[in-house]
Amino acid sequence: MELSSVIHWGRSLSEYKAMFSLSNHDLGKKILGCGDGPASFNAELTEQNGHVISVDPIYRFNANQIRARIDEVYSQVVEQVSKNKDDYVWKHIPHVEALGKVRMQAMRLFLADYGVAKESGRYLNASLPTLPFDDGEFEIALCSHYLFLYSEHVNQSQHILSMKELCRIAKEVRVYPLLSLSDNQTSPHLKPVIAELEADGISVDLVEVGYEFQKGATKMLVAKSV
Ligand SMILES: C[S@@+](CC[C@H](N)C(=O)[O-])C[C@H]1O[C@@H](n2cnc3c(N)ncnc32)[C@H](O)[C@@H]1O
Repeated sequence: MELSSVIHWGRSLSEYKAMFSLSNHDLGKKILGCGDGPASFNAELTEQNGHVISVDPIYRFNANQIRARIDEVYSQVVEQVSKNKDDYVWKHIPHVEALGKVRMQAMRLFLADYGVAKESGRYLNASLPTLPFDDGEFEIALCSHYLFLYSEHVNQSQHILSMKELCRIAKEVRVYPLLSLSDNQTSPHLKPVIAELEADGISVDLVEVGYEFQKGATKMLVAKSV
């Protein structure tokens, strides 16, 4: 994997809470953050005595390498969002400068934690669709801004395999958003994924969340093994 092929843009614990409607009860569970990248979710939740493991292929790189990549793409991402301002809802985050600030704050928290916690097992270099965990090892698995969002890069069969893998290792799986980045429309993989999971006896619901930044991204997928 090339570090240059990855978009480095991490979110905070408060955004994860909102995107996934995480209650205090949920936050006390054993959680997997899949594709957490440079998000500060793990760092912040661990600080609050949470129990979370993050997996991402970028964790094969060290903190300095990831920091360099974040610095490299920062202005490109801000410029890209500025060009497509109308695709976003500027409510909680009022403008592009504030977005840059909020994201950099989260990524700095991540980098500080990652530098010291790399050997603790909280950050594992692993990739969907195959994860190094036992069946039902986690109570909740979260996947933010990877599956469905990158529908053009990750094909339908990879989506199906990835969702089945997440459902294998966690009792409950929450995924957000469900729109493709390319056109802000519901991912074409959503229906086939739901059909495959339901055929395996997994219950699937699309649930409204109190978070919307990418316009129209108001729902998460919740899958539960029954
Ligand atoms: C846009 S970032 C989202 C980061 C974080 N989840 C957040 O919302 O702030 C997408 C992440 O997906 C990760 N990723 C790419 N391929 C992956 C795979 N096969 N399995 C798990 N994560 C992957 C990338 O490395 C990147 O960190």
